[in-house]
Amino acid sequence: MLHTDCPHYYRFGKDGESEQEFLDRIVGSLRDLIEREGPDTIAAMIAEPVMGAGGVIVPPAGYYPAIQKVLDEHDIMMIDDEVINGFGRTGNWWGSQTLGMTPKTISAAKQLTSAYAPLGAVMVPEDVYQAYVDHSRTIGTFGHGFTYGGHPLGCALGVKAIEIYQRRDILGHVRSLIPLFEKRLTKLAEHPLVGEVRHCGLMGGVELLADKATKRPFDGKSGVGPKCAGFCEKHGAILRAIGDTIALCPPMIITEDELNELFNRLEKALDDCEAWVSTQGLRQAA
Ligand SMILES: Cc1ncc(COP(=O)(O)O)c(C=O)c1O
Repeated sequence: MLHTDCPHYYRFGKDGESEQEFLDRIVGSLRDLIEREGPDTIAAMIAEPVMGAGGVIVPPAGYYPAIQKVLDEHDIMMIDDEVINGFGRTGNWWGSQTLGMTPKTISAAKQLTSAYAPLGAVMVPEDVYQAYVDHSRTIGTFGHGFTYGGHPLGCALGVKAIEIYQRRDILGHVRSLIPLFEKRLTKLAEHPLVGEVRHCGLMGGVELLADKATKRPFDGKSGVGPKCAGFCEKHGAILRAIGDTIALCPPMIITEDELNELFNRLEKALDDCEAWVSTQGLRQAA
């Protein structure tokens, strides 16, 4: 498995490089990688429309249409990981719709049952399915399975969750909250501890930095992210630190008042964390 460039302009854009130039560079680098390795040796590229557990990384506008052109030219499939993005998180059923990705296959889990029961799913088109069928016939069995694959409990809950999403127009609700979510998140960028804020739908990331002007991160051993998550918990908000990025992924049924409450608590935690960082002298360059 090979990795291509991370589409995070704030972190990986070079000095003086515009976002468009960054995009052109990483698309070119993907093309070089494919041609160097040999397109016939590459079956697929796997991507998550907005990287969730990778730090809430929102790629530059036009990223997916640009890389898919390269993939299509070389007959390489796009596998879309919608485990976090799927079922409304970005304001559409699929993150790929929000980000302009046209995947060949989709994998999904989490919100498929609203997480009330374990269920994962893979969606494949007819030609991919047919390849499985043809090969299964040559070996006499469908040689792939999980102990609880297709378990009726998970499947029944999945069907019910989707019915509730539709009946209660959860996607419409998510979309109605996005402006407030973006507004409150964007305001956090003014905080002395915050370098970048990133968001897509009801996913947000708040990256904490030692020096905003130079984008210098804290020493990895300082543990600023987990400490900040601890301050959040003290103020009654359970948020996850991914390194020094505080990730927000509120329940899709959250109300405007609750969302404001979440940000009020996060702001208090950031103030506490700023005070802690100062008393510990964690801003000094290593
Ligand atoms: C984007 C993404 N893909 C895949 C997985 C793994 O999913 P599962 O545990 O359902 O196999 C996760 C788990 O958090 C995830 O966040």
